Amino acid sequence: MALIAPSLLACNFLKLEEECKMLNESEASWFHLDVMDGRFVPNISFGLPIIQQIRKATGKPCDVHLMIEEPEKYTEAFRKAGADHISVHLEACRNLHRNIQQIKSLGMQAGVAINPHSPVELLSDILQDIDIVLIMSVNPGFGGQVFIPHTFQKIRNLKKMIHERGLKTLISIDGGVTLENAASILHAGADVLVAGSTVFQAPDPKEAIKTLKYSD
Ligand code: DX5
Ligand code: ZN
Repeated sequence: MALIAPSLLACNFLKLEEECKMLNESEASWFHLDVMDGRFVPNISFGLPIIQQIRKATGKPCDVHLMIEEPEKYTEAFRKAGADHISVHLEACRNLHRNIQQIKSLGMQAGVAINPHSPVELLSDILQDIDIVLIMSVNPGFGGQVFIPHTFQKIRNLKKMIHERGLKTLISIDGGVTLENAASILHAGADVLVAGSTVFQAPDPKEAIKTLKYSD
């Protein structure tokens, strides 16, 4: 049974309250919130004020994915806005260990996101310090893209590293997750599925969440 983290990037922002209510009533585990700065990725999404509002509308953990440069400058602000988990990009951090410690010292779970071109082996010396690895299965910046098949091998390699060291790090997969590929992603070793379009474009989003959750 997987943890499901619907990505609100794909929701109807004119109906944000209803969308939150739907997720609260669903079997979703976390709210996945994609923050983009137009620098680290070629797109701009939403930021602190929206997350503050979402925080008021749910008791479920807010899993904030920062696709931004210099995330350390904003960690505290995102904590105050209501983040429970913060994932920063390996490719955006010159002092990743320091940034992880900062996230943890503020009482949050710390995640590291890696782009499709980054080998999971680059996490070798930080794995013991983090709670979540967010493997990007598309290039970050946009919802609705196609899952990159090489991700399966990355999941298997990372799972092996985690297992060999006796760690409890969660593997979360972000981008192009569908009802069709969810089972294979979970069999490869993923613990969390992030899903935007598959949930919010479904005729029955709660049902889609359920299908993803039990697809292994
Ligand atoms: C992409 C974001 C994803 C995105 C996933 O940069 O990090 O979380 O919303 O969207 P889908 O599930 O539609 O690929
Ligand atoms: Zn994301």
